[in-house]
Amino acid sequence: MRNDVEIVAGKPAEFSDAERATFVELVRAGDEVDDHGLEKKIANAHSLVFLRQEGQVRGIAAVKRPLPNYRKRIGRDARVELSDADFPYELGYIFIVPEARGHGLSGSLVAKALELVPDSGVFATARIDNQAVCAALRKAGFGLAGEPYGGRGSRTLQIFVKQA
Ligand SMILES: CC(C)(COP(=O)(O)OP(=O)(O)OC[C@H]1O[C@@H](n2cnc3c(N)ncnc32)[C@H](O)[C@@H]1OP(=O)(O)O)[C@@H](O)C(=O)NCCC(=O)NCCS
Repeated sequence: MRNDVEIVAGKPAEFSDAERATFVELVRAGDEVDDHGLEKKIANAHSLVFLRQEGQVRGIAAVKRPLPNYRKRIGRDARVELSDADFPYELGYIFIVPEARGHGLSGSLVAKALELVPDSGVFATARIDNQAVCAALRKAGFGLAGEPYGGRGSRTLQIFVKQA
């Protein structure tokens, strides 16, 4: 990892209101997730991860606690069993600000997030045409699970899993 990059992880409550607001803003900028109840979902996450460069937030990710209905719905759509016992967490909200993309920073974010739940199975979803995030997930040890399925708008999503 570049030595001007700092990655900080913690429970949502360990960050300030301003930091959590920045997190929400960047998730919205990514425009990859349903906005419904976003603040609450972020506050309920297992952990948030911030990547800073020269003191500026350049990227985020989270270890999420997926809601049962969501887990059930995407598992049904993708025809894969995503039980809470096997995959208690979801890696998500991965975002690098546009001007910092293409330097491999997403890999460092993903690695840091996974260090927080070393003994747990984790799943993630990605647009099938989002080559950067798919590459970062594969590099971190995730494999494809189930079939591609329809997401928000015209998105086609793929579930990735990493066993405990
Ligand atoms: C997805 C995102 C976080 C990736 O970050 P990034 O800085 O663009 O990508 P990185 O430079 O870290 O590259 C990650 C991997 O993807 C590859 N990659 C990057 N851009 C690529 C492209 N356009 N096509 C193919 N591969 C690409 C890189 O080579 C790297 O793989 P490697 O480590 O095997 O070489 C970033 O593009 C982003 O924030 N996008 C908007 C939000 C989003 O889509 N989030 C994902 C929600 S699941």
